[in-house]
Amino acid sequence: MKNVCTDQADTWYQQAEQKAAHYFASLYMQVMEKTYVSTLTEDFELWKRNHINQRPWLSLFSRGTRKPDSQDYRRYMRWLDHTGKLDDYLDRSISYIYMRDLGKALDSPDTQTRIQRVVADIKNHLTRSAATTGGGQPEQLSLAGLYRWAQKESIESAVIWLIDKLKDVSANIPKEMNAEHAQRKLIKIIIGVIMHVVEEMDVGISSEERAQRLDEAIRLGYSYGLTYPFIDDLLDSGVLTDGEKELYSSMIRTALLTGVVPELSGWAGSNNMEIIQYVHSELRDAFEYIKEHQRLETQETFFEQSYVFFHSQDIDRVKDLSNKNYTNEELYVPIILKSSSSRLIVRSVISAPIDEGFDHRTFLYGIYNQLADDFADMFDDMNDGAVTPYTYYLKYRDLRSDLINPFELYWTVISHLIHNVYHSNAKTREVILDRAINGLKRCRARLGTEMYNEIMGIFAAGNPEFNRLVQYMVRKADDVDFFDKLLRDQMVTILKNNQKEKEDFQDTIKNVRQQINNQLQITKANGISPMKETLIDAANYSLEGDGKRIRPLLAWVMGVNEYGLQPSTMVPLLRSLEYLHTASLIFDDLPSQDNASSRRGRPTLHQMHNSATAELTGLFLIQKGIEEQTSLHSFDASTVLALMQYSAQKAEDTCMGQAMDLDSKGKALTIEQLNMICFLKTGTAFEASLVMPAILAQVKAPEIEALKKFAYHAGIAFQIKDDLLDLEGDLLLLGKPTHKDVENNSSTFVTILGQEGARKEMWEHYCLASETLDKMSCKTAFLKHLLNYMVSRDR
Ligand code: IPE
Ligand code: IPE
Ligand code: MG
Ligand code: MG
Ligand code: MG
Repeated sequence: MKNVCTDQADTWYQQAEQKAAHYFASLYMQVMEKTYVSTLTEDFELWKRNHINQRPWLSLFSRGTRKPDSQDYRRYMRWLDHTGKLDDYLDRSISYIYMRDLGKALDSPDTQTRIQRVVADIKNHLTRSAATTGGGQPEQLSLAGLYRWAQKESIESAVIWLIDKLKDVSANIPKEMNAEHAQRKLIKIIIGVIMHVVEEMDVGISSEERAQRLDEAIRLGYSYGLTYPFIDDLLDSGVLTDGEKELYSSMIRTALLTGVVPELSGWAGSNNMEIIQYVHSELRDAFEYIKEHQRLETQETFFEQSYVFFHSQDIDRVKDLSNKNYTNEELYVPIILKSSSSRLIVRSVISAPIDEGFDHRTFLYGIYNQLADDFADMFDDMNDGAVTPYTYYLKYRDLRSDLINPFELYWTVISHLIHNVYHSNAKTREVILDRAINGLKRCRARLGTEMYNEIMGIFAAGNPEFNRLVQYMVRKADDVDFFDKLLRDQMVTILKNNQKEKEDFQDTIKNVRQQINNQLQITKANGISPMKETLIDAANYSLEGDGKRIRPLLAWVMGVNEYGLQPSTMVPLLRSLEYLHTASLIFDDLPSQDNASSRRGRPTLHQMHNSATAELTGLFLIQKGIEEQTSLHSFDASTVLALMQYSAQKAEDTCMGQAMDLDSKGKALTIEQLNMICFLKTGTAFEASLVMPAILAQVKAPEIEALKKFAYHAGIAFQIKDDLLDLEGDLLLLGKPTHKDVENNSSTFVTILGQEGARKEMWEHYCLASETLDKMSCKTAFLKHLLNYMVSRDR
């Protein structure tokens, strides 16, 4: 068995290698003859007509305002639209994506029609969303935006599944690896797979069929995308020891050659056991999912391409920058193979029909993209000691006159693609040269002119005249921007900011929670009689438990960070909120209500004592909460009275909610009724935590309304998550019993709509809360992350 397999593997790889060597030989000849110089000089002459402004002074008088920074997404879009550049911009961007990601030839009229349709759709969407939304990031890059799209396509389940998967990936990725990077790569692959699937759909496809295919595309995309962080990047990183890398690689090989993922073995005692267990089980699921959804005849191709992909990366990976003897062929053949097979696989992953044209173009195209990417990453790669054509050339160019200059190879590939692969098609010339000049412009902006010139001095020295032409274009040419680059930049910024905000959020939570915990104990007055002590002890017992303290946290952050109140002045409010909340939990757990045996990781109060003590402690805590409110001495009396009146009303609402909740046992509630109960029993406390600091700070009514709206949706989302955790959660983490709702025959979102249905409702409220935040004038980062936490928490 083993030999048959290795033979098979050798044949697969040798065939691919031969083909790549052949391609490389033809490129090599072209580099040597420098054919690209004359060809591309002519191309640039044609190209520049649309990109060099002949009379620049005219633009001073033209109606266009100055070009805004493309980081300012909406203004940039408006500017493109206003100056009449939007159509060309989208056309160039979509055309490029059709060529690069979908492997299309731009000279096909059919492809042109499709591109025009996509351009029109996007333009329509952009102009519409610019009219309805204010500033800020493109909505398609937010979780709420993603979920709204899912709703439109009826693929909520797949998108929720994906959101959870992405969360798991970043939770499980070793800290030596870059979690943002992994997420971005995964998302990119998934988008690529979705695009292929959409492209394969017939125009008249039913919406059910479309939804089903998109659902599959998302899961297939994730399944294939997972291999990037968890095979290539993991092996590239220093997480595994050399021995472990070998073990891991051989496992991957076996899976690809036998079609079955082997069991984990040989890892006993490894420091990386936990990560490898996660990766193994996740990759196995992914592998099974892909296989299950493949037609039999594409499976063979899939394994072959995957093997070539894996093996060429492997060969590339073990290259050592200190080895000065690699031949050009050794450097470039694996690159041709890895860059093309990664793209070829996509179609076999989705079982698309065989398309000779696609295969042919894609095989030739890959290296172009790889050379562009490696150029951009040259310094990072140098720092990592990675061998790429650029790092190798930088290091050995003086020693090895036989080495190909990768930058010249890059232009050679461009020239070859435009003329030999895409038949000198004008549109192809346009977009490839746009992209090339854009890439150099971006590089210059990133490195600074001096450094950039130095680099060009090294790589472009061989052809001063051609280089002068190119550098002229880099300085002067306009209209070479791309939408996918813009989205990518936005995504990088957003992911980075998000990460930073999330860390701030976690720090705040940790610190403030500690401060709150220090203030909660109810102190006993000197000389108090031992009989009176019992209730105080009981109250403190409940307060000491491991509560999350979300309500006082929320009040603290709003009061201090948003309204500038002094932390010390807020202490009575924080206590009051947590006392009232804890009281509600004590009542909720009573045998007459939910009859729960544990809370906050310890036995419930009525278990420790008895129901009477629990009831009286609850009442005691409520009175304590009110007493604390009367100690808000730093605020004027009428403000405090307004707060107390509001507080009493909210407490009434909570009681009503609890009563309705208990009364609804076994009843088939409507969504409206469920919303009402959840808002009353749970949402009101969140509302109070947001609104009370606002009352103290005398915030204007419209802002308070927005806070209430946010609290309404966030509160319901929180309760739905609580209902889900009741079914799926971990008793130890939660600190309270699970499966209570079924046991009590309670009517919750989960018992009525099922897990899927409840999850969808939760995300709907998540979106509504998030959209409310978008319209709010205050700083919303904390609330946004709190909302994320509410729906992703496991306790
Ligand atoms: C539990 O609230 C009661 C519900 C509204 C679901 P929390 O989940 O905030 O409980 P603690 O305060 O952290 O214990
Ligand atoms: C309780 O809802 C809401 C309150 C305000 C007490 P649950 O009954 O679902 O809360 P847990 O699950 O017991 O914490
Ligand atoms: Mg309850
Ligand atoms: Mg309960
Ligand atoms: Mg519950």
